[in-house]
Amino acid sequence: MKFPKDFLFGAASASYQVEGAWNEDGKGVTNWDVFSKIPGKTFEGTNGDVAVDHYHRYKEDVRLMAEMGLESYRFSISWARIIPDGDGEINARGIEFYNNLIDECLKYGIVPFVTLYHWDLPLPLEEDGSWTNKRTANAFAKYAEVCFKAFGDRVKHWITFNETIVFCTLGYLSGAHPPGLINAHKEYFQATHNVFLAHAMAVKKYKELKQYGEIGITHVFNPAFSVDGNEENLFAANHANYYQTYWYYDPILKGEYPKYVLEALEEKGLTPNWTDGELQLLQETAGMNDFIGLNYYQPARVERIQGGTEAIEVSRDNSTGRPGNPSFDGVYRTVMMDDKVYTKWGWEISAEGFLEGLRMIKERYGDVKLYITENGLGDEDPVIEDEIMDVPRIKYIEEHLKAVKTAISEGINLKGYYAWSVIDLLSWLNGYKKQYGFIYVDHHNNLARKKKLSFHWYKQIIETRGEEL
Ligand code: BG6
Repeated sequence: MKFPKDFLFGAASASYQVEGAWNEDGKGVTNWDVFSKIPGKTFEGTNGDVAVDHYHRYKEDVRLMAEMGLESYRFSISWARIIPDGDGEINARGIEFYNNLIDECLKYGIVPFVTLYHWDLPLPLEEDGSWTNKRTANAFAKYAEVCFKAFGDRVKHWITFNETIVFCTLGYLSGAHPPGLINAHKEYFQATHNVFLAHAMAVKKYKELKQYGEIGITHVFNPAFSVDGNEENLFAANHANYYQTYWYYDPILKGEYPKYVLEALEEKGLTPNWTDGELQLLQETAGMNDFIGLNYYQPARVERIQGGTEAIEVSRDNSTGRPGNPSFDGVYRTVMMDDKVYTKWGWEISAEGFLEGLRMIKERYGDVKLYITENGLGDEDPVIEDEIMDVPRIKYIEEHLKAVKTAISEGINLKGYYAWSVIDLLSWLNGYKKQYGFIYVDHHNNLARKKKLSFHWYKQIIETRGEEL
């Protein structure tokens, strides 16, 4: 079977991780421009000042994407390029850059799939309470409208937010991302609500503008499974799904928060500060979401913690996705299992978990349109006689694309796959050591680009529409 004609084969990036040019052409300073320079926060002190210089080399990069046969490029807009202080004047040179990037994609027939927020927040908003302040949500809605009006004639696929769970968990519970707070439970839930609110406002505005494209949100997709059939562990897995998945997906797709979590928050005094009007807006806009984007890397294997709360030990290292952390409420812990396979960074490789999770999504949310907006292997790629032989990446993507194919054949409404990442880029907490791209960047040779083995492999998959998978 070939993949359906309307299925998009893509790859992704994010502004802070690729662009560089952090203080050029009127761009404002962001939270990450500052946070990455705090000693100890990032791997070997890496930051995105230059990143892989996509800002200056986007033409070369898009040309390579075209050569690979890429059908769609998912990238994010840096809010601070468009509105330098986050909430004020528009910067024409920022608009110009993204106009150029979009036009360059369209020149080759590459569909731009645009994320409005991939974690780089203009500093004045960060300093004014970040996502715990509703001002940030309102400012986001204005920024989104500016983007719709500037680019909406050519961009027909919009993602409001990338992975709310990650920037809120790392920002407010483990302190590994800005604003760097630890165990700030109240702020954590408030921030998530304010993001959903900002999303709802942007969706409503987009529909009012009648641009006839599609809009949705991208969430981490980290389905939780019990380590065994023990009742306590099964309970823990269900609990994890409520907090890690349903808390995020329900307000978008059902327009309301899951009661199971709401009741616990009420009891603990953690209910976000919200108004009836805001809750109504979530209801009103739920049906307007055209799709949901899933970023899948690994499932969660979960066991019940016996004997009360475990303190979260905080470090950069245990915030990089490796299992082993207790949940914030001390109910469960994620674990590594002897019979599973892991990447060098301890992320489980499981295409089966992916497929099972997709079935779970269909069961809870019905026929909602899905895109896999990220999936890929972080590795230190093997170099053999100057060639980047990233065979493990090929194998990883192959297995996951097979799962996508099976899901489609089962009637799951999946319309595209975006590998993470199109090019090697800056990992927020792991520097340049952890590679994901089809295109290699040589940090010892003026950031020269080079095609990896996976580049040729993905080209072939796209050309044959995955028939042999
Ligand atoms: C996702 C993010 O969480 O995972 C990306 O959307 C990120 O921005 C990717 O780079 C991989 O994470 P890491 O920690 O391996 O670089």
